[in-house]
Amino acid sequence: MRRTIVAANWKMNGDKAEVAELLNGFKAQLDTNKADVVVFAPAVFLPKLETELADSAIQFGGQNAWTEPKGAFTGELSLGMLKEFGCTYVLVGHSERRTIFGESDELVAAKTKAALDAGVTPMLCIGETLEEREEGVTEKVVTEQVQAVIDVIGVEALADTVIAYEPVWAIGTGKTATAEQAQEVHAAIRAFIAKQSAEVAEKVQILYGGSVKAASAAELFAKPDVDGGLVGGASLLVEEFAGIVAAA
Ligand code: PGA
Repeated sequence: MRRTIVAANWKMNGDKAEVAELLNGFKAQLDTNKADVVVFAPAVFLPKLETELADSAIQFGGQNAWTEPKGAFTGELSLGMLKEFGCTYVLVGHSERRTIFGESDELVAAKTKAALDAGVTPMLCIGETLEEREEGVTEKVVTEQVQAVIDVIGVEALADTVIAYEPVWAIGTGKTATAEQAQEVHAAIRAFIAKQSAEVAEKVQILYGGSVKAASAAELFAKPDVDGGLVGGASLLVEEFAGIVAAA
């Protein structure tokens, strides 16, 4: 039985006061019994999360990291640094990194490998654009994104990652994929992995992301291949996010 994960992606939002308020709200209101909860916060707030969440079951992670352990990479963070500050997860390949910052499948795969090597769980984001969906190539796009990672880490190691399927057209747009659309793609991803390892396919958690709200979460999470959610906008609202976690 795969455990549900509900992850908050705060993106580049929040200030000291807002983060303090969100953390207090999360600690008071999130039920971590039925789902693992992970918060992806801007890097400058990670020491705060380390302190505030020390006695909490809520886990946290970085939104990005570089592949190398140290050196002349101005502006970047290493996975060792994230780990030292208590991060158990790191986001890899979010569509905003792929499109705005030009991260290729190859770089995403290298980051996934670096995270695994450092003992930080990579949450690998994949997803198609609206154009790709309309062209009918969704399955091809997402399975190629997964294969690019398998090519570098091997299929067995995929069991130690978490996959987040996030259709680009659903991110921050208010257009959630229907539970049926999500299930269809999740099942296709799992079937694709199963051709290489049935065991890994059964084990790997596949989350859905893209305008998840408290009102849509229960239906999404009820689908057999949807193992939780990666939540952006709604994770900046305590009540709304608590509702999503409760839906697990
Ligand atoms: P959204 O973002 O929930 O605001 O659509 C999801 C994400 O980008 O992870």
